[in-house]
Amino acid sequence: MTPTIQAIGIANGGGDCPGLNAVIRGAVRGAILGHGWGVVGIRDGFDGLIWPERTLPLTVESIAGVLPRGGTILGTSSRGNPFHHTIEEGSPQVTNDDSMTCRRNMEKLGVNALIVIGGDGTLTIARDLGRMGIPIVGVPKTIDNDLSATEVTFGFDTALHVATDAIDRLHTTAESHGRVMVIEVMGRDAGWIALHSGIAGGADVILIPEIPFTIETVCERLRERAATGKRFSLVVVAEGVKLPPTDPFGKPFPKPRPGQVGILIGDAIHESLKQDVRITVLGHIQRGGSPSPFDRILATRFGVEAVELAARGNFGRMVCLRAGEIESVPLDDAVGEVRLVDPKGSMVRTARAVGITFGDQ
Ligand code: F6P
Repeated sequence: MTPTIQAIGIANGGGDCPGLNAVIRGAVRGAILGHGWGVVGIRDGFDGLIWPERTLPLTVESIAGVLPRGGTILGTSSRGNPFHHTIEEGSPQVTNDDSMTCRRNMEKLGVNALIVIGGDGTLTIARDLGRMGIPIVGVPKTIDNDLSATEVTFGFDTALHVATDAIDRLHTTAESHGRVMVIEVMGRDAGWIALHSGIAGGADVILIPEIPFTIETVCERLRERAATGKRFSLVVVAEGVKLPPTDPFGKPFPKPRPGQVGILIGDAIHESLKQDVRITVLGHIQRGGSPSPFDRILATRFGVEAVELAARGNFGRMVCLRAGEIESVPLDDAVGEVRLVDPKGSMVRTARAVGITFGDQ
């Protein structure tokens, strides 16, 4: 039976992402102005449902000014899973299933339905809470743009702008000094940020997890450029790229720690070419700061549509973008499948056509 809604709760989980506040604002304004509901903000991922004192009322007044703000006014947690909830204080550590606590606390708070904003991990938890009968609507979020059920996630466009701006800046200094610049960008197991920013920034080499590469092929390309009088080169590396087993001298690559893969590749290029190489690991700068207009608009549309799904009693679904329109898919279909770059797809073909190498041929 569709619950009569008096109030909804809004939670976000996992890493923060530019545009989260725009979703929250869209949902709060949609719920209050469109339906007269109350809205409860749940702090720090799902932790706010386990400790309801960590919730706060959200009103049109209290969310004023959040649209251009990066981060999330609710705080977030990358580890809080109510089904395997680990109490970290003291020892030994204890892991509980607190999902029923979440459900009871929703009742205590007078919250009839939840809007959960997150990536694959958070939305999997949302799906499982939905399977317990909690009325839930999901909103996809990640700078990595790797969720299969939506064409785009908000946050990606902002990260792309930051990465492209960084490549542009590296370009001018690379040219001045005749250096090879290696820049490592985020994206987890997908190469979307590297591929798009590499094309937008005019990279010479793009290395992504979806296309195996060798250092020799990368260096070959850089030598070819040097032979035509180009003294500098730009190499964009996705953080999730899979290193070949050995460097050109037969030395095994170590298993890279986060933020180390660009350094290992840059060092190997330096050893091979004996040319000046500088390495930039862009890191969390890609996730911080104000969302782009595209992300603000997409996030607002997602927030508003999540409320409308709840109003229609369409629970267990996630909003998504398809051919420019906001639609929805069952949460069951939305999680568990990562959307990777197609090595034979049109973006990769475009990059190759303008002379970018992926280190594979
Ligand atoms: O999923 C978003 C993301 O920024 C990835 O691109 C990156 O690998 C990861 O999160 C970093 O996570 P953390 O903030 O926990 O270091």
